[in-house]
Amino acid sequence: MQNQHRRSGQQAGSNLLTRRTFLQLAGSTLLATAAGCTSRTAPPAATPSAPGSTVEIALTAQEASWELAPGKRITAWTYNGTVPGYPIRVREGDHVRVTFTNRLPEPTTIHWHGVDVPAAMDGVPDLSQPPVQPGATFTYEFDARPAGTRWYHTHANSARQLDLGLSAPLIIEPQAADPPADREYTLLLDDWVTNTSAPTPPPDNNGMMGGMMDDAGPAYDTFTINGKAFPATAPLMVRQGERVRLRLINASNMQTFVLSLAGHPLQVTHTDGNPLQQAVEVDALSIVPAERYDVIFVADHPGRWPLYALNQPHTQGGLKTLIVYEGSESAPEAELPDLTPGLRVWSYSLGHGVDRLPQPSGSGATYQLTLSGGMMMSGDPNVWTINGKVYPQTDPLVAERNQLLSVRLSNMSMQTHPFHLHGQSFRLLRFGSQALQAPLIKDTVDVPAMMGTVDLEIVASNPGDWMFHCHKPMHMDGGMATLVKVS
Ligand code: C2O
Ligand code: CU
Repeated sequence: MQNQHRRSGQQAGSNLLTRRTFLQLAGSTLLATAAGCTSRTAPPAATPSAPGSTVEIALTAQEASWELAPGKRITAWTYNGTVPGYPIRVREGDHVRVTFTNRLPEPTTIHWHGVDVPAAMDGVPDLSQPPVQPGATFTYEFDARPAGTRWYHTHANSARQLDLGLSAPLIIEPQAADPPADREYTLLLDDWVTNTSAPTPPPDNNGMMGGMMDDAGPAYDTFTINGKAFPATAPLMVRQGERVRLRLINASNMQTFVLSLAGHPLQVTHTDGNPLQQAVEVDALSIVPAERYDVIFVADHPGRWPLYALNQPHTQGGLKTLIVYEGSESAPEAELPDLTPGLRVWSYSLGHGVDRLPQPSGSGATYQLTLSGGMMMSGDPNVWTINGKVYPQTDPLVAERNQLLSVRLSNMSMQTHPFHLHGQSFRLLRFGSQALQAPLIKDTVDVPAMMGTVDLEIVASNPGDWMFHCHKPMHMDGGMATLVKVS
């Protein structure tokens, strides 16, 4: 066994685990599995282009047989035959042309999440485009902007199609260098229903287990990193002394993952692909559906260290891999550390964002959106509302181009709602009682359950009709969506 790397002291303003949560987490022991990792070669990423060039990509949505873990083979819906789908990597400003063919048995579309695409390329069926029929082809064309960790996924029949695997990383490299790293991994996290193991209870407000049973959704039992559940996850090889960047993408339908890397603190450098003024060091990072975080860790502690979820059912369901130092391939796997009540967990108010949004031309309207629904509030687990209405009856937010909209989201329901805006990112001004000193730039924000409140500012810079919705597909399909109309 290796010694735990422990840090004493607490960072002011840290989001401490509550005693209740701590006890839940500490309640049982996880096995330190000695099983060797089945190495899996990641699908090749598209080669970075010369800046400003046109990048041609062919994507086919198609069924494929996929082994999530030994003995757990599923029929996945994929982009180009792999789970996650084909990873796209381009430079900021590149012109991207995707020739997309639908070989699935039902219509589909692609949404470029976090990319400021023209409205006709946004991939919302019947709003941006007619859905792409089986056998048909559609060409998506856009300039890769802004830089950062983005992703793409289906926007049709989302609860089913996202569940079956239709998501993939889309990395836009900046013209100017990111914080330097010697090595980089992109990790796409996902949830699956295989009915072969015990389902996880829904997460509560903190993303920890034990929340209210308020969803009619399917029972997720398997959790993957790049399409594989532990012990099938690919180990992440590092060399002592390296600075290692992880680009984390939560592509799951319903899970708030709380990630930690044994023996190493994580430095958060980007939220939803957008840089922070300075890195924020944490011991654990909670990430809601559709959010992305870039983190860096310094490989200064040779061995084999688990990267895992603090939510035990997530780790037990496969959300785990090993960081393996060169030369330590046969070292014993470090045990999962005991959780200390002083654990530093990421929260929005710890970050200082770099404001890259355009100057607004003036102030527009202020909107108050009350989110509700679910069994407890509406008596129907499949109805989710904004100001008491379900999409498309919800009232749109309306702006002239470049106007500044102020939005307050308040959550009266028992479920957390990761809210996402298409077409442009927003400023996160306030999270609950905490005003952010330097707003984070994001495209997805957690609106916590049971009276969670979030204040945002939208610079309506991209003309068109844009979806603004909960990213849990069951909730979106249940009505929790509206439009931001920019003229
Ligand atoms: Cu990531 Cu409307 O979606
Ligand atoms: Cu929701």
